[in-house]
Amino acid sequence: MQQLSAGAISDQVIENLREKESNQKDWTIKRPNWLQAHLASHLISSHAEKTGTMVKRSTKVILQNHYLVALSLDLQVVGVIGFVNWSNEGMEIVSHLCRDDFRKIGLGKKLFLSLLEEIEKIQPLSLFLCTTSVEYYQKLGFTLVDPKKYTAKLRHDCLRCKNGPQGPGFAPCPEYAMEYPPKFYR
Ligand SMILES: CC(C)(COP(=O)(O)OP(=O)(O)OC[C@H]1O[C@@H](n2cnc3c(N)ncnc32)[C@H](O)[C@@H]1OP(=O)(O)O)[C@@H](O)C(=O)NCCC(=O)NCCS
Repeated sequence: MQQLSAGAISDQVIENLREKESNQKDWTIKRPNWLQAHLASHLISSHAEKTGTMVKRSTKVILQNHYLVALSLDLQVVGVIGFVNWSNEGMEIVSHLCRDDFRKIGLGKKLFLSLLEEIEKIQPLSLFLCTTSVEYYQKLGFTLVDPKKYTAKLRHDCLRCKNGPQGPGFAPCPEYAMEYPPKFYR
């Protein structure tokens, strides 16, 4: 039998824990019913109020657009993601959010990949998002893009935003526009 030093044992324990964590499936991802859409709206609003970096979405908007929620074992909404269709400008991924205690365990990535399955069926002209988490989305394959390309988004959301109408990439807006390469969904 292989002899392990104390350091090696603790490394192995940590490795096992990491593996267990990444295999954890203590959530379900689905289209929301009315109550779940209502809870998702609340989660988004709390984050928007706390950070000022996310557009609030009503229960109605969540039900009318293509949204997914993640439910914990006790049926709480612990994650959400959706897309808004800007007709001939493509689609924007919105409201990508995990509850604080459900972050960095792979849920955000899983929500994105689940939504991507739906997006692949629609094959939009383009797929973009506006975010402060540039590094995170670069890891997922997004690249920075000039937000001026998305005039409908700028006219609709940015004109109403308290960070000013100029949009992502321009102070005081803390966000950047990023695009997903079409090869991944067309
Ligand atoms: C952005 C957010 C949805 C990511 O979800 P998450 O569940 O924490 O992320 P995951 O666990 O799926 O992370 C996937 C990978 O990204 C990495 N990552 C997570 N957060 C990161 C960050 N802020 N910056 C860089 N990398 C990050 C993880 O380490 C992981 O890397 P790996 O695959 O190499 O192990 C979550 O942090 C969140 O809710 N943030 C607040 C809302 C927000 O900023 N939304 C952005 C769009 S508006």
